[in-house]
Amino acid sequence: MKGLILSGGKGTRLRPLTYTTTKQLIPVANRPILFFVIEQVVQAGIRDIGIIISPETGESVRQAVGDGSRFGAQVTYILQEKPLGLAHAVLTARDFLKDEPFLMFLGDNLIQDGVTGLVEAFQKEAADAAILLKEVPDPRAFGVAVLDGEGRVTRLIEKPKDPPSNLALVGIYLFTPAIHRAIANIRPSWRGELEITDAIQELLQSGGRVLARRVEGWWLDTGKKDDILEANRAVLDAYARTAIEGEVDAGSHIAGRVAIGPGSKVKNTTIRGPVVIGKGVTLEDCFIGPFTAIGDGSTLTRVGLEHSVVLEGCILSDIPRIEDSLIGRNTRVRRAADGRQALRLFLGDDAEVAV
Ligand code: TTP
Repeated sequence: MKGLILSGGKGTRLRPLTYTTTKQLIPVANRPILFFVIEQVVQAGIRDIGIIISPETGESVRQAVGDGSRFGAQVTYILQEKPLGLAHAVLTARDFLKDEPFLMFLGDNLIQDGVTGLVEAFQKEAADAAILLKEVPDPRAFGVAVLDGEGRVTRLIEKPKDPPSNLALVGIYLFTPAIHRAIANIRPSWRGELEITDAIQELLQSGGRVLARRVEGWWLDTGKKDDILEANRAVLDAYARTAIEGEVDAGSHIAGRVAIGPGSKVKNTTIRGPVVIGKGVTLEDCFIGPFTAIGDGSTLTRVGLEHSVVLEGCILSDIPRIEDSLIGRNTRVRRAADGRQALRLFLGDDAEVAV
């Protein structure tokens, strides 16, 4: 079985960060989301992985992932000239996929328990495709599935205005080569994309068998700022561990699971985990609250920071309370005058803010 990870797309909902970074490389708990995805694919026993890249951001994905050997995988890069849909990505990968079954995984999705169980069920059941479903409060932004009384998939609809169920399609799918025939029979949707939901619907209509499983643990679809913060929270909660490699002075207090990278200096600062702090970070007179990740080389002075993601090289000072914020690389935030209101920030790379 092969793996196909989608790391193309436009990422418009994460602008301005995605002007300079591809969405799948935005870190949660200081690691690109894409790395967690590759690990979950490899854990399911799949090592021959194709990664769909775009002309704009493909090079940064190549540089970050390399040949895949450090994940125990062999990676082939597949250029999709335009983001013309998930089924178009499969079409673009046709030569790589050959006539083998494959796992398709959107490079900005993560599930708590990985995909090993799904892959095993698919191999046992001899189905034409397998999908994962998750109940969501508002399914209008997702592909939605309708099941019959016995839990079989009867219909799939992409982003319905009037959703027939609350079962959203998670961005993880398993296919036999039957999907290629289905894709050949569909046309672009109203938004001009070849939709994978339409292809699976086509497969159903031609008598194909589609297995559906529900995701029990969390599912993260990191398309927007708050999704990244939620992913950061969930990943820190699941994976953060105590590892203090930097220097922490006697005036500092560290509680809970906190990782501090080499070359970092923590002075007169309280840190409440789960928190991850990168390499060469300086924290002085700060409070760093739970569910926060700070990227390499950042400097924070007299800052309160909670439930936030700060990327590399940021300089923040004299802000008593920052929360629920995603701050791009090399951003500077400093206080120009006194005042104690909480700030809520969503800043692009190289932004500078004085408040
Ligand atoms: P989306 O989040 O649906 O699209 P997007 O990345 O263009 O983002 P936005 O809506 O904010 O503009 O894409 C889901 C995943 O699939 C994401 O990881 C990008 C990837 N993708 C491709 O690789 N090729 C494509 O043609 C499309 C549409 C998405």
